Amino acid sequence: MVTASKQLSGRRVLLIISGGIAAYKGLDLIRRLRDTGLDVRCILTSGGAQFITPLSVAALSENKVHTDIFSLTDESGMGHIRLARECDLVLVAPASANIIARAARGLADDLASTVLLATDKPVMFAPAMNPVMLANAAVQENLETLRKRGYGIIEPGVGGTACGEIGSGRLAEVPDIVTIVSDFFLKNAPLRGFKALVTSGPTFEPLDPVRFLGNRSSGKQGHAIAEALAFAGAQVTLISGPVNEAPPRFVQTVQVQTAREMLEACLKSLPVDIAVCAAAVADFRPEDVSDRKIKKSGNDPVSLKLVQNPDILATLSQSNQRPKLVIGFAAETNDGMENAKAKLAKKGCDWLVLNDVGGGKVFGQDSNIVTLLRKSGNDIASDTWAEKSKKDVARDLVAAAVAFMGKPA
Ligand code: CTP
Repeated sequence: MVTASKQLSGRRVLLIISGGIAAYKGLDLIRRLRDTGLDVRCILTSGGAQFITPLSVAALSENKVHTDIFSLTDESGMGHIRLARECDLVLVAPASANIIARAARGLADDLASTVLLATDKPVMFAPAMNPVMLANAAVQENLETLRKRGYGIIEPGVGGTACGEIGSGRLAEVPDIVTIVSDFFLKNAPLRGFKALVTSGPTFEPLDPVRFLGNRSSGKQGHAIAEALAFAGAQVTLISGPVNEAPPRFVQTVQVQTAREMLEACLKSLPVDIAVCAAAVADFRPEDVSDRKIKKSGNDPVSLKLVQNPDILATLSQSNQRPKLVIGFAAETNDGMENAKAKLAKKGCDWLVLNDVGGGKVFGQDSNIVTLLRKSGNDIASDTWAEKSKKDVARDLVAAAVAFMGKPA
């Protein structure tokens, strides 16, 4: 019988244990991951093997432990490629500064780094190192590179480290890592096999080298939707204008500045099954962009000639590669329902999330009151949701999308 605690049976994790004193926690991690029913295969790097033995890893995982890229027996069947593909998730825990750097650079000088390059599966890193090492700009840049490429980073904890220093750098607690991995699998299931694209944040339209026209948008809602789609199993590309939000986990993030760049990135990511346009795209851009800073000349008024930007939502809705579900947002200060219905028709999308932005509401805040309008034939159904966090709006919107999408073709 499959008990509730074994609900991840049938899923496979490839655990890479790299060098560092926290490697000993890798043994507990194997045991607890297996308690959920997961099949755990392990790669022990040469650094990791300085701290724990392959024998204990093999005993706890009840699987062969892989250590050597040049193993004749393994490589006769291109073992590193098989290892990289025959899993549902690659987890690097603990992830040393060294393996993080090699992954960020794309090196392939041992089995672990080669597998990280060869895998087409989601990858999570759980860093563990001395706090000063973690704070080092090189390590931070490498982590940022990995985040941007859509790798999940399981943030290290704060506290005492083995080297006696206190700060951020401890491996995240093993039960927390197990929860993140379980959530990944459990929430992942329904949109597995679907691709999604999400636009988020504002666009900035340059006027001269120091000035731009832009919209107000924190990107919080769009980023939360991208992460919720990824947690539901979709393969997500997030196309984001300039924001301060961290790139969401398990999402491929493409950063753009202008509406035209955003459109181009969207078209490049087609075909997708679901498109969510949450970006606050600047409707207009200056017709001419000065290559020098525009100077004041006395008190003379300055006039700007603006031209319209392409409408990304409408373009996607009318594309010959139209996603099955296209969702737009409408930021309205007045006559919300009326405007939203007109927008739904004009843009040609399937659903519209109406945001009341009257009186400076919504922008940058953590919660949102939205009405979801859904077109079905000639009818439009509307639901106004109680005020909730933007993360909960994202989760509920994705739940509605799951119900709509059914199974992948
Ligand atoms: N949108 C877009 N491309 C644009 C303008 C808007 O993709 N050039 C998308 C937004 O991402 C959003 C929806 O269209 O999903 C509605 O955006 P909104 O700013 O509310 O409407 P506008 O089209 O700009 O219309 P108006 O400013 O007249 O209200």
